[in-house]
Amino acid sequence: MKTNKKYVIGNWKMNPMEEQEARNLLREVERGAEEVLGKVEVVVCPPTIFLAELQHSSVSVKIGAQNVFWEDSGAFTGEVSVVMLKRLGVGWAILGHSERRGYLGESDEMVNRKLHAVLRHKLRAVVCVGETEKERREELAEQVIVRQLEQGLAEVSADSLLNAVVIAYEPVWAIGSGVVPTADDIMSVNLLIKKTLHRIYGQREVVEGAVIIYGGSVVVDNVRELVGKTGMQGVLVGGASLRAGEFVSIAKIMGDLDQE
Ligand code: PGA
Repeated sequence: MKTNKKYVIGNWKMNPMEEQEARNLLREVERGAEEVLGKVEVVVCPPTIFLAELQHSSVSVKIGAQNVFWEDSGAFTGEVSVVMLKRLGVGWAILGHSERRGYLGESDEMVNRKLHAVLRHKLRAVVCVGETEKERREELAEQVIVRQLEQGLAEVSADSLLNAVVIAYEPVWAIGSGVVPTADDIMSVNLLIKKTLHRIYGQREVVEGAVIIYGGSVVVDNVRELVGKTGMQGVLVGGASLRAGEFVSIAKIMGDLDQE
C-alpha cells in the first residue's frame, strides 16, 4: 500500500440519531471531498444501523464499519459478520477502538481474530492502538503500544499488512478531550510503530510501506501540526467528522500536505 496517498477516516461513533441526518452528512462530505479523492482516501464509518442505507447511497466516499465479529455466521447474538458487511459492499472496518476496548472489554486477542476475519474476506482494517492516561502517567505507553501491535497483528502476513491494514495511533487521553500530543511525541510513536513492525516482520518494505495514521482530537486547526511533520499518513477523526464542512477541510489539508 506504499503510496503518497493520505487517509482521512471519520468515526461517527454512536451518531447521528436519525438516518436522514446520516444521509445528509454523507452527501455533504461527498460533495465537498470530491476534488481530493484522487490523493486522499476518504472513509466514513457510521453506526451499523445506517450502513446499508449509506453504502447504497454513497457514490465516491468509502463506507466502513466501526466493529465486526470474527465468525461468519451463527449463534452470536448482537454481532455483525464481515461476510454480511462485504455483501453490502462495505469495504472498511475500524478494529480495537479504545472505546470498544474500554467499555466492552475488547482484548488484543479479539482484535486479532477480527482482523483475520476482515483480511479473509478482503476488506480493509483500521487497527487502533494507544495508551490510556494512566498508562501514560505510569510510563507504560511504549509497552502498551508494542503489545497491542504484536498481539493485534499476530499471524498477519506482511502482504496483508501492506495491502489491507492501516494502523491508527490514538492516545486514549487525546480522544474527545481537546488535548493532543506534541508533534514530537507523535513522531516518536510513529518511529516506535515502525521499529516494532521491523521486529515483527524483519523487512524494510513493511516498515516503509505500512500506513500509520494519527487520531485523537483532530480538528481543522491542528491537523497540519499533528500530521505535517510527524510521518503520519492520515487521520482518524471522531467529533469533527460529524461536521461535514470541517471534515472536508481536514481532507483538503491532508491532500495538500505534500505540496507545502
Ligand atoms: P475524537 O475521536 O476526534 O473525537 O477525539 C477520535 C476517535 O475516537 O477515533
